[in-house]
Amino acid sequence: MTDADRPDETPRYRIVAIPGDGVGPDVLAAGRRALDAVGAAAGFAIDWTELVVGGAGIDAHGVAIRPEDVEVCRAADAVYLGAVGGPKWDDPTSSVRPEQALFALRGGLGLFANLRPVTVHATLVSASPLRPELLDGVDMLIVRELTGGLYFGDRTEATGAPGSRSASDTLTYADDEIARVVRLAFELAGQRRGRVTSVDKANVLATSRLWRRVADEVALEFPAVRLDHRLVDACAMQIVRSPAAFDVLVTENLFGDILSDEASVLAGSLGMLPSASVGARRTVHGLHGLYEPIHGSAPDIAGRDLANPIGTILSGAMLLRWSLGRGDAADALEAAVGRALDDGYRTADLLPTERRPEDGSTRVGTIGMTAAIVDRIAIRRAAPAAVAARTP
Ligand code: IPM
Ligand code: MG
Repeated sequence: MTDADRPDETPRYRIVAIPGDGVGPDVLAAGRRALDAVGAAAGFAIDWTELVVGGAGIDAHGVAIRPEDVEVCRAADAVYLGAVGGPKWDDPTSSVRPEQALFALRGGLGLFANLRPVTVHATLVSASPLRPELLDGVDMLIVRELTGGLYFGDRTEATGAPGSRSASDTLTYADDEIARVVRLAFELAGQRRGRVTSVDKANVLATSRLWRRVADEVALEFPAVRLDHRLVDACAMQIVRSPAAFDVLVTENLFGDILSDEASVLAGSLGMLPSASVGARRTVHGLHGLYEPIHGSAPDIAGRDLANPIGTILSGAMLLRWSLGRGDAADALEAAVGRALDDGYRTADLLPTERRPEDGSTRVGTIGMTAAIVDRIAIRRAAPAAVAARTP
């Protein structure tokens, strides 16, 4: 049989692209380019569907996201998102806000766990304000609960005259909501260094006392993993005092939001960090999920070829690994990012202001950094059959 006789066996995956607002379109274009390139090298192709969501969705359709957009995301293998929000849609009295798109996707798709890995690339140690010796060995995974807590609780907005206004947000967690995310943290810790730190405010909050009890119960299922509990305030301090001590951190929605921005300082820039949001649903290829950098829409630098695309590209690597079962391509993409950094390519956020330009570094924009990464993609083919493997 010649190649021409053979049916086209190139695996194809369906990914929804949501560029969003601000630098979202800049970084998502970079991420798509990287995923297409690694797919070409590894022997698969991506069918992209683009959705207009966030502030752009408000402008186009009057709402941040439409129910049919959520359905398109549900039907795809994975969702790849840039960023949403910006000053144009910031009116606090408005009933439509770009961020509502994130909550509709997280809640609607049941993406209850947000995984935010924090590592420090050796050549970026000088980009962090922390002393180099503190960064040695930092490799933590923050697992943030994503569909409960204050973000999804009942709230009342302030009305009335100054002096008589009040507002409320409700913090509620059911034990099964806690158990499923804590269980995932334990499973992941079992594949890492075997330590889970559960973060709460059990000295004050009833939800935290429940969280702690449930974490202790789940721990019984994982005798090989060590659990400790930390109060969120003390944990915030420890993240900058001894960050290498952490393996997997698991915590509720708002604490996870705050601690992950804090932890990003270790990596040198918020622009470096990827995230994956996953739930229980599987497709034929892997876990259904949504992948986005942890940075926001940074409207001040939007459209100016300044944004660091690495957080988005590394989110793409997580997408390959978790949702498509393409660990080969994920490894190749992460290695390419590492090589581009080793070779001195730096976006503006990675160059300390007082030492710009750094010796031996090449200052690049979003497009230049993406090109440097794409140029360094090399797939290691263990055996030809492995490349066409379809199992997750
Ligand atoms: C994040 C962001 C969002 C959040 C905002 C944009 C609503 O900060 O993904 O961390 O708070 O979850
Ligand atoms: Mg945040």
